[in-house]
Amino acid sequence: MDKLIIKGQSNLYGKIEIPGAKNSALPIMASSILSSDGLILENLPYLNDIISMNRLLKNFNIKIKQEKFKTTFNTQKIKNNVADYNIVRKMRASILILGPLLARFKTAKVSLPGGCAIGNRPIDIHLFGLEKLGAKFKVENGFVYGKTKKLIGNTINLPFPSVGATENIIMTAVLAEGKTILNNAAKEPEIIDLSDCLNKMGARIEGAGKKKIFINGVKKLSKTNHSIISDRIVAGSFIILAIMLNKKFLIKDFNPKFIEKPLKVLKKMGANLNIGNNFVIVSPSRKIIGANIETNPYPGFPTDLQAQMMALMSIAKGKSKIREKIFENRFMHISELNRMGANIQIKNDTALIDGNQKFKGAEVMASDLRASMSLVLAALTAQGKSIINRVYHIDRGYEKIEETLGKCGPKIIRLK
Ligand code: UD1
Repeated sequence: MDKLIIKGQSNLYGKIEIPGAKNSALPIMASSILSSDGLILENLPYLNDIISMNRLLKNFNIKIKQEKFKTTFNTQKIKNNVADYNIVRKMRASILILGPLLARFKTAKVSLPGGCAIGNRPIDIHLFGLEKLGAKFKVENGFVYGKTKKLIGNTINLPFPSVGATENIIMTAVLAEGKTILNNAAKEPEIIDLSDCLNKMGARIEGAGKKKIFINGVKKLSKTNHSIISDRIVAGSFIILAIMLNKKFLIKDFNPKFIEKPLKVLKKMGANLNIGNNFVIVSPSRKIIGANIETNPYPGFPTDLQAQMMALMSIAKGKSKIREKIFENRFMHISELNRMGANIQIKNDTALIDGNQKFKGAEVMASDLRASMSLVLAALTAQGKSIINRVYHIDRGYEKIEETLGKCGPKIIRLK
């Protein structure tokens, strides 16, 4: 298993361009199942999760051709198949093919998903929504079996604005008969990107990005070309890195509006940020102070930036609090950050962070995708050298971190 060796008290200079958003790319790739005409995507990031989704789609006889700036999904000879445990276990987002398979083939057999170990992560809301559209499910021997005679639009009131469930329901309702009204939908920018792509394919979705989404079913979708939006979580992670290292750094080619809440918190903490239309420039600041935040569905503070924020709060002046309201088990980075010199305690769903600490290099273990980034941030700030084990977590969401950051000063070596 790969390890990263990271030199602390790192330099950081120049700029970094933000690649396409993993969480936008995955559902959009899954939606290629919905049409026989194919799909062309640009700005797909180079990540392990994207490779896993490619493997999953190839399982359905989708031919994928990767060129420098675009990836073509040829779905002419698509056929239904079992979504195998060996692929699905690596990535929870595999469940996003459930809706498209039902819409296209009326039956689906998908292994129950794996992914990050950040909580129970059931799929009950996905199944509830798809059942409202006329699907029937049974869960047996680790598989979800779905079938439907006919998908018919309906009014669906989600008990919680689950991102994945919203996406699965949209992808199914676009080919259902009649109108679907989805209440309490997730409002993440990635939902808007998915809907934009589907609308270009001929779907009729209105209100994506709002609480109420209207979908008028159509008979067929056709080919389109779509460029994936940039990754707001990767952008936020690198902004936090520059603040922690107190360096001038340009983070470009993304929409700062998609991380309005985290940027507001960072400014309040004392960060010196110049926020443009498609960039943020971080400049050194005199002092960073603690803050109290809680994670929430968009436009609230994203749970995917919680771990990185905790690394920053550990070296800020004073005390901070983070309440994690999305995932019940997303504090696994705390023990590792504490091993590196942080002083963080957990009280139920809240992390109490005593700031003013200095990170010291240590050997640590990544536990999930975003947790691993918080360890990279701590290691780059620390005195001395750190070793991060289980790097495969970081490769799921950050493109070749040793190369992308390596161009801007940090010394990160990968040991295979
Ligand atoms: C997506 C993102 C992930 C992010 C999360 C929250 C992708 C590929 N992943 O994950 O990076 O951290 O949104 O912003 O886009 N839940 C249920 N039942 C369900 C579905 C969800 O109880 O059927 C719970 C989950 O266990 C979790 C919460 O709802 O506690 C949020 O999950 P959800 O919004 O569905 O996140 P994902 O789509 O899995």
